Amino acid sequence: MADVHLRPITLANYKECLALQLDPTQTAFVASNAKSLAEAKVNPTLTPLAIYDVAARGYDDPPVPMRGFAMYEIAAGVGYLMRLMIDRAHQGQGYGRAATIEIIRRLRLSPEVEIIGTGHHPENAAAAHLYRSLGFLPWEPTFAPPDSPDVHLKLPN
Ligand SMILES: CC(C)(COP(=O)(O)OP(=O)(O)OC[C@H]1O[C@@H](n2cnc3c(N)ncnc32)[C@H](O)[C@@H]1OP(=O)(O)O)[C@@H](O)C(=O)NCCC(=O)NCCS
Repeated sequence: MADVHLRPITLANYKECLALQLDPTQTAFVASNAKSLAEAKVNPTLTPLAIYDVAARGYDDPPVPMRGFAMYEIAAGVGYLMRLMIDRAHQGQGYGRAATIEIIRRLRLSPEVEIIGTGHHPENAAAAHLYRSLGFLPWEPTFAPPDSPDVHLKLPN
């Protein structure tokens, strides 16, 4: 299974982040990375992260390409994986699973996180399979917008 290294999006790597691509059948499942980075710029509860193969660990200038992007939110006791995407050329190699596991680890280290959640489009079979296989269970948070079609999931405490 792939192992990953996560690091912040910076002036040095944001263009690579914006160049990551999805299959056209997947673009409805996640906001664009440009939108996510804009949201993170104005909302300090959001943490956007670049996903690299573990071969990038230890290098100021990663010798391998960015594989994907993720963003989580920590607010009001909830740690929520909001965005996850792996570049279409690198999907199916374990990066999505490894990145989710690493983000759960990070959220568990945050003392203000009392519950860990995520969500996906109802037709997103890949995300549903991935999150369920990592132990996420159905969740109906009362704070979710009532008009949102997204499926919400949480980890058991
Ligand atoms: C969902 C996504 C992040 C998974 O990343 P990935 O690196 O391809 O996934 P992995 O290789 O780590 O595989 C994780 C699991 O998902 C499964 N999976 C991957 N693509 C799948 C698909 N199209 N349909 C069903 N299952 C799929 C894999 O089989 C694997 O399960 P397994 O270990 O039991 O075999 C990736 O497909 C993606 O970027 N999709 C578009 C954006 C998106 O939907 N993001 C999620 C928003 S909530």
